[in-house]
Amino acid sequence: MASYCGNSGEVCVSVWEKSEGNTIDTFCHNPENPIHGIMLKDYNNSRCEMGREGRNGEIDICSCSEDECNDIVYFNTPSLSKLSANTGFKLRKLCKFCDEQPSTCNSTSSCLSNCSITAICEDPSEICVSIWREKSEGNTIDTFCHNPENPIHGIMLKDYNNSRCEMRRREGTNGEVDICSCSEDECNDIVYFTTPCSPRVETSLAVSLAVVCLVPLLVFAVVIVSLFYFYQVCCQHKKGGVHDRSEIRAIITEDDRSDSSSTHANSLNHNTELLPIELDMQVGKGRFAEVYKAKLKQGSSAAGEQFQTVAVKVFPYEEHLSWKNEKDIFSDAELRHENILHFLTAEERKSPVSKQYWLITAYHEQGNLQDYLSRHVVSWAELCVLGGSLARGVAHLHSDRTPCGGQKVPIAHRDLKSSNILVKHDLSCCLCDFGLSLRLDSSLSVDELANSGQVGTARYMAPEVLESRINLENIESFKQTDVYSMALVLWEMTSRCDAIGDVKEYEPPFHKVQEHPCVESMKDSVIRDRERPDIPNSWANHLGVQSVCKTIEECWDHDPEARLTALCVAERFIQLEQLDKLSQRSSSQEKIPQTSVSDEKKSTTVPSAGLTEKQHHHQH
Ligand code: ADE
Repeated sequence: MASYCGNSGEVCVSVWEKSEGNTIDTFCHNPENPIHGIMLKDYNNSRCEMGREGRNGEIDICSCSEDECNDIVYFNTPSLSKLSANTGFKLRKLCKFCDEQPSTCNSTSSCLSNCSITAICEDPSEICVSIWREKSEGNTIDTFCHNPENPIHGIMLKDYNNSRCEMRRREGTNGEVDICSCSEDECNDIVYFTTPCSPRVETSLAVSLAVVCLVPLLVFAVVIVSLFYFYQVCCQHKKGGVHDRSEIRAIITEDDRSDSSSTHANSLNHNTELLPIELDMQVGKGRFAEVYKAKLKQGSSAAGEQFQTVAVKVFPYEEHLSWKNEKDIFSDAELRHENILHFLTAEERKSPVSKQYWLITAYHEQGNLQDYLSRHVVSWAELCVLGGSLARGVAHLHSDRTPCGGQKVPIAHRDLKSSNILVKHDLSCCLCDFGLSLRLDSSLSVDELANSGQVGTARYMAPEVLESRINLENIESFKQTDVYSMALVLWEMTSRCDAIGDVKEYEPPFHKVQEHPCVESMKDSVIRDRERPDIPNSWANHLGVQSVCKTIEECWDHDPEARLTALCVAERFIQLEQLDKLSQRSSSQEKIPQTSVSDEKKSTTVPSAGLTEKQHHHQH
């Protein structure tokens, strides 16, 4: 939980006490007053670096002045940074560390710890542990760091080399507990319960059950893999399973026509060897990270050193969670789509002073859509390319199917805006910045969805997001909020299209509200006054633009259920482009266009585009 400090001058404080079984207190405090008899000295720091204080040196305390800076606490940082420069040094783990807290988990499939505190373990030998307990007064989950050389509740951990936390029922000194341990950063945040095929039973029974369950499973897996293989071949779907540098090179060299940044992978580089990348200039800055144009070296030839241009998103150490979220979203191979930024690989980079997290993706010379629209007026045909590709990108993100019909986890972007959309060489768009995105996994509980909170950029937030009243019972609600944001972006594109007549300078939606509007100002405008960006009557002079505006209005409806789906918007753009071609052909052959405005009202199709209303009537 985060809260505003009540009095000005207060700073964020964390106190970690080992004496009572490891507790972390987090609170606001005025540094002019002592706390536990200690005067804070470090409260001007931007991050919370633990120092041992107190009469007997028994309290680890830190303070800092950035928002929520006491959420991550750093132990003994100077020595850690010095040592981490040494290759071979074992870095201390980041683990969830909430000790005991209530859990809604009922031990089926996987559960989130719901622990909001991430701590750096005190000792490099410590790993992450979670213990789940079924209790009549309510289930609980403990999360903490622990040295596996020592028993915990009389249990010696055996699974601490695992990358994920897989629960096993073990007999401890105080009875049975479900316990798991693992060695990846924050791996104890999600706990996995065993499937009915590996129940908590005596070993001999377990072995026979495993045989009974695993043999059919293996046969099933072989059938599925073969089917998948044939299916991939028939679909001619280029896959991006990148596992080593030579593969990455081969894939990047495959030319994406004129775009210099053709990368074709949506997979993780599991190779520990880092790519030979040289950062060039900074091209963007987001909430969590900075984006650089970079050179991916590909050897040298007589003509000199060869390289491929890529984009590198650099997250500082503190933004590990945003990097992890975006990396997890990208690592789903089914996300690969021409209107989603091509992902190459994710890396952890250690430097002498700190650790950084990188995401390496395709580079798009034209930059983001907001900058593009500020610099360019677009034609009607270009508006169709920009709008259609945006809708197709969002539709793919939201879809539970790949274009080949395979299964895919739908994803909500949750921060769609023109600065999170890139413009490719052919003026089609691709979505980027998945730091706040949410996988709409059907196993997510209402609690888990509710915990994901009110996120995004206030200017682009749908009314139900501004009011924190999303219907958590239905995952479609998250897609509907994206469609609202997409409508604002479509409006931005249309406002810069020369088909509307007099094109003004680029302005963001709701530009009159404020430069960086907060949620409260947006609520006044979007909910109290029911305002939306202005669509002047003159825009309807062009029948295609008129149709786009109708679509925009159906997408920013106050009622989320009444909004169109992204797929429907994509289909409308396809119809517009087809009608455009038809009307061009018919005008060159002096034929009469077939769609009339009254026809359009009856159906969900769109009127003949690419014509002014005058031209359209004239042709009729
Ligand atoms: N800005 C943010 N991401 C970018 C990318 N991949 N290419 C170009 N500019 C960007």
